[in-house]
Amino acid sequence: MRLLVTGGAGFIGSTFVARRLARSGDSITVLDKLTYAGLRANLAHLEADATLSPRLTFVHGDICDADLVARLVAEADAVVNFAAETHVDRSIAAADDFLRTGVLGLHVLLAAARDRKLRLVHVSTDEVYGSIEVGAASEDAALSPRSPYAAAKAAGDLLCHAFFVTHGVDVVVSRGANTYGPRQHPEKLVPLFITNAIDDAPLPLYGDGLQRRDWLFVDDHADAISMLLDRGTSGGVYNLPGNQERVNRDVALAILKATGKPTELLRSVADRPGHDRRYAMNGERIASLGWRPRMTFDQGLAQTVVWYETNRDWWLRARGPGWSDYYERQYARRLKESTPT
Ligand code: NAD
Ligand code: TYD
Repeated sequence: MRLLVTGGAGFIGSTFVARRLARSGDSITVLDKLTYAGLRANLAHLEADATLSPRLTFVHGDICDADLVARLVAEADAVVNFAAETHVDRSIAAADDFLRTGVLGLHVLLAAARDRKLRLVHVSTDEVYGSIEVGAASEDAALSPRSPYAAAKAAGDLLCHAFFVTHGVDVVVSRGANTYGPRQHPEKLVPLFITNAIDDAPLPLYGDGLQRRDWLFVDDHADAISMLLDRGTSGGVYNLPGNQERVNRDVALAILKATGKPTELLRSVADRPGHDRRYAMNGERIASLGWRPRMTFDQGLAQTVVWYETNRDWWLRARGPGWSDYYERQYARRLKESTPT
């Protein structure tokens, strides 16, 4: 197959590209805008591999660019869309780009998939269900997004459904759990806490730190997307749970233990507005296709810590030129007013 992978220079997208190239004969074109979160370096190891690089092409561009997308889709057999703005805290500060890419950009991809009659796998999130205080959301649960990020993702899911019903577009939607692993931007909880711990900097835990997330290792997430590309039912929605639920406080303590740093680094800071208490999903539908997450959180975290310890150059570069302004805005006041946890 010839795949167009949008957002393929990001965290999960680049992992998908690496694993798909290695395990299939597919050729892949990555279309990525290289926002602050997208890094050419995430594909460098593949471009340097003589057996894989002939099947990989990189195009720098925006999924909102309909002419460019039409040209690339015309040369593809299927599209996998990872492109999005992905950080909840940034969506609270300003949501414009979340909506532009998540709704208008996705619309461009859906229209191109309709015109060329291609399969589109759209990568979504468990956050569309909102906070699940008890039990677990199944795919037909109501969407109840509570952050601007989650609202943009839910709008995208609804658009996929509308294009399936109205235009018969062969679209499959995945809803993955909180994902972690190598090459995740250092703004997100797991890499932020690992890199801060490495630098002996405080770990800012929002609120009481008892919010719960279900953790999915990035390789498992990427492999589920591959399976949905090959075998997902047209018009289907699939939850991808990690089956590794942890409270944030325990995640932070595990990171301090794995990095050998003192618990005094953990600081309670002002909470995120609208902070979802818990995410949880039922994964029976994808289990019936034969997928289940393989990695335990303890093993996956140990691998991830080692990766960040040995790839300092990567995360210093990933922070990018805007990092100190972002960190100042997001954490300076919080840390000044923080208390021991
Ligand atoms: P990421 O932020 O690391 O990567 C996003 C990529 O999309 C970047 O390379 C960026 O440059 C690119 N991009 C953004 N806007 C674009 C545009 N308009 N045109 C082209 N490229 C654009 O994100 P990630 O963590 O790899 O997430 C990938 C997808 O998976 C997202 O859709 C996200 O909502 C979803 N998801 C993420 C998680 C998670 O925990 N990370 C969990 C479930 C679902
Ligand atoms: P995050 O990685 O932003 O993912 P999401 O909000 O999409 O679940 O955050 C994971 C959890 O960690 C979430 O409950 C918010 C919390 N968190 C902190 O306590 N401190 C932080 O500095 C960050 C970035 C997140």
